[in-house]
Amino acid sequence: MSVAVDYVLMCLLLHSLALLTLCLQHSASACSKHCYCSESDSGGKTLRCSNQRLTEIPRDIPNDTRRVYLDFNLLTSVPADAFAGLSHLVELDLSHNDISQLQPGAFRGLSSSLRFLDLSANKLVHFNADSFEGLRARANLTDNPWHCDCNLQMAMPRVDLEPVSLTGIVCQTSEPEETAVRGLAFLLEPDVDLCVVMKRTTDVAMLVVMFGWFTMVISYLVYYVRANQEDARRHLEYLKSLPSRQAKSEESSTISTVV
Ligand SMILES: *[C@@H]1O[C@H](CO)[C@@H](O)[C@H](O)[C@H]1NC(C)=O
Ligand SMILES: *[C@@H]1O[C@H](CO)[C@@H](O)[C@H](O)[C@H]1NC(C)=O
Repeated sequence: MSVAVDYVLMCLLLHSLALLTLCLQHSASACSKHCYCSESDSGGKTLRCSNQRLTEIPRDIPNDTRRVYLDFNLLTSVPADAFAGLSHLVELDLSHNDISQLQPGAFRGLSSSLRFLDLSANKLVHFNADSFEGLRARANLTDNPWHCDCNLQMAMPRVDLEPVSLTGIVCQTSEPEETAVRGLAFLLEPDVDLCVVMKRTTDVAMLVVMFGWFTMVISYLVYYVRANQEDARRHLEYLKSLPSRQAKSEESSTISTVV
C-alpha cells in the first residue's frame, strides 16, 4: 500500500506530462494477481501464470487477453464457463497440472477464437465430448491416463477439435481389457471396435428373451394337449361306469370319435 502511495506521490512530483502518462500506462497493465501480464507488439495481451501453485483458475483474467499460460500449477478441474467472456483467447496452456475433470461447457465461449489448447501431462481418464462442445482448436491431449472404452469410441465423431488432436489419446487402460489397444493411440487403430462386446451382449440378451417366449408357448401347448387328453379319459371312464347297454354302444361310438 505504502509503496503504491509513494509511487503516486513520486508521479505527482514529476511535473513532466510525458512521465505522467507513463505512470498511468503502468497502472493500467496491472492484471490478474499471481500472473505476469505483457502486451505483445501485435497488440495481444499475454497472461503468464505458470508455476504459481494455483489450485483454481483465476477469475479476473482481462477480457482482451489472447494467450493464457496456466501450466505447472495444481489445478484439478476446469469448471463450466471457466473462460467465458474471453472472446479473444487464441491460446490456452493448461498442461502439467492435476486436471482429472473437464466439466461440460468448460471451454464455452472460446469456440470462435481458440486455436491451441494444451491439456497434456494431466490426469484425464474419461473423454467427455460435451466438455469440448463447438471447439475447433488443435488440442494436445498426450500424457494423460486415458481409459479407452465404448463411451470414448462413441464420443469421437461428436468432437469438432482438429482431428490430429485425437491422436494424442493414448490408451492407458481399456474396456474390454483383452483388446490390444493399451499403449496405442486409439484413433490410429481403426480395426479396434470397443463397442463390439456390448453389441454381442445385447444380441445374447435378445436370444435369451426369444428362447424364453418360445419355451412358454411350447409348454402351454403341451399343457393344453395333456389337459384335453385327461378330459377325454375321464369322460370315457364316466361312460364305462354307466350300467345300461345303450351306454355301452354310446361308449364305443365315443371311443371311435375320440380316437
Ligand atoms: C471487456 O469488458 C468491458 C467492460 O466489461 C467492455 O466494455 C469491453 O467491451 C469488453 N471487451 C471485449 C474485447 O470483450
Ligand atoms: C504435447 O505436449 C507434450 C507434453 O507436454 C509435448 O512434449 C509435445 O511436444 C506436445 N505436442 C505438440 C504437438 O505440441
